[in-house]
Amino acid sequence: MSSRTICLRVVEQCRSRRFRFTHQIVLRGKVLCSNLSTNKEGPSHSEKEWGTTKEKHGYGTNGGFEKRDREAAGLFYLNTLQLPEMLQKNLDSYLKKFPRKVLENDGKKLARHIRNRGRPTDQTWQKYRESRRQREEANQAKPADILKLHKQQGDSIFDDGDNISEDEDDEFDEDSVSQETSSEPHETGDSDTDDEQDDSRTNTETTDTNDGKPAIIKKQKVVKKPRGSEYKLIRYNQREAAAYAASRLPASYGATLRVFHEISRREPNFKPENLLDFGSGSGTATWAAHETWGDSLREYQCVDVSQDMNTLAEYLLRGGEGLKHSLHIPGVYFKRLLPVSNLITYDVVVASYALSEIPKASLRKMAVISLWGKTSDFLVIIEHGNTEGFEITAEARNLVLKKGDGEPVDDESSEGNQYQYLDASAEEMDDGFVFSPCPHDVKCARSDAETRDHPCNFEQRIQLALCQRNTKLKKRGFHTERFSYIVLKKGARVSEEKPWPRVLEPVRYRKRHVICRLCCSSGDLKQKTFTKKKDSDIYKCARHLTKWGDLLPDPEDRERLRVNRKAVKS
Ligand SMILES: C[S@@+](CC[C@H](N)C(=O)[O-])C[C@H]1O[C@@H](n2cnc3c(N)ncnc32)[C@H](O)[C@@H]1O
Repeated sequence: MSSRTICLRVVEQCRSRRFRFTHQIVLRGKVLCSNLSTNKEGPSHSEKEWGTTKEKHGYGTNGGFEKRDREAAGLFYLNTLQLPEMLQKNLDSYLKKFPRKVLENDGKKLARHIRNRGRPTDQTWQKYRESRRQREEANQAKPADILKLHKQQGDSIFDDGDNISEDEDDEFDEDSVSQETSSEPHETGDSDTDDEQDDSRTNTETTDTNDGKPAIIKKQKVVKKPRGSEYKLIRYNQREAAAYAASRLPASYGATLRVFHEISRREPNFKPENLLDFGSGSGTATWAAHETWGDSLREYQCVDVSQDMNTLAEYLLRGGEGLKHSLHIPGVYFKRLLPVSNLITYDVVVASYALSEIPKASLRKMAVISLWGKTSDFLVIIEHGNTEGFEITAEARNLVLKKGDGEPVDDESSEGNQYQYLDASAEEMDDGFVFSPCPHDVKCARSDAETRDHPCNFEQRIQLALCQRNTKLKKRGFHTERFSYIVLKKGARVSEEKPWPRVLEPVRYRKRHVICRLCCSSGDLKQKTFTKKKDSDIYKCARHLTKWGDLLPDPEDRERLRVNRKAVKS
């Protein structure tokens, strides 16, 4: 056998065993094989079809050995973000005007307050109603019935401390999950957790048993009536504006950029010309939009009731006070009130962390209707990743999709009066569909507070804010912003496109398989296991590339395509 034949056989064997060639094999000046000879770029994702031999989601075409294609469709993950250089410079010079200690304290206080307004959520109201119902039932019942009731509920009636009732078990789970690190998507919202801790107290009752000894009926949970008045409106004066810039600005920028990034990745031909930012505050949405779409945007309309916030945003854009400094991003205009007329529409309308500033559901509804009327393409709503923030995004979703379910309770006074979405103005709204994060327009599986596993939220890492630099986060070097969002698009969903499922939690890596929790196009939440052997392409993608919040190719779709291909072949 000639040396050439031997070499060719070795190459053939290597290929069949999927070894990777990291060097060229050259024999008598001829290249037998090389990793350089393959097309490094690989086809664009649209060229990669499921069910073909080229199908390697997130990988090149060279049998999957090419470098990972982090630009593949469905991947929106952004590494730890830094503020744009100019924004950082102007922010530093703005914050220097205030005493550092005061700024740090104010910033921490404000950030805590924004998250812990204490506004009762649907879940809190439901817990309260359930507890009240149980107490009423217990009051009406005879002592024998009380024992029966406790048994039915799986509650221990003896104070031996061994049994944990079902209720306690759930609580234990919830608490333990909420204490987990940031890799867990669960967050009941601080307000909820606080409510639970403050409002739940344990009553111990005694009753006579047959043998004459008193038995202790323990743990009849009493949940206090939630106080709607706890919600405190923040007036953003100069001090609050500075505290916001020192604490929340990077986080808000990071979440907004992540959402805009997804729109631009999925709609590369979409080049917006104008943007409306409702509750613009420090103007982070303007910076994020400029970072995403660059010069295609020629007009940014910022609307904020607070004059001091507008002054801050303008300072950050100019790098100083007064008109002698030019705007770093041209075409930015400030207003204090939203225009009433819908004659002028905007390609992108964004409300980031602004709707939660509006205390009542009825007012938020008016704001969403108004913003939707001013949208020509995308309406983006970003909120905190807690229960309250998720419910605000869900309200907006239901309103635009004209779904009457999951209405929020307005406030304490309107308890029991469910808010009516389907009034005349809501019906007159233009049609739209959910662009992101839901791959469907049916009822959200998490909108029901009773069946919800946890609020739908996502994460983005971002550099530390000024008042976080001297905390324990300093060691880590970044802050993880957890947010809920909804992107609504005008028009109708293209029906031939079956949207890919959304990854709702960090992928769980196991030996030779991965477990993904997915929100599917049917509207169901599914837990899927992808094995190395059966689903090698999706497995590789999920193991090495996909992060929480990305889209995964639909495994069911792929099965369908394979079947079709077989049918065509035969
Ligand atoms: C938490 S800040 C968010 C600022 C900005 N969107 C960001 O992400 O950095 C909320 C802003 O909404 C503004 N706001 C509250 N209610 C408003 C309303 N009805 N109309 C316009 N702005 C409002 C407040 O003045 C405040 O500046």
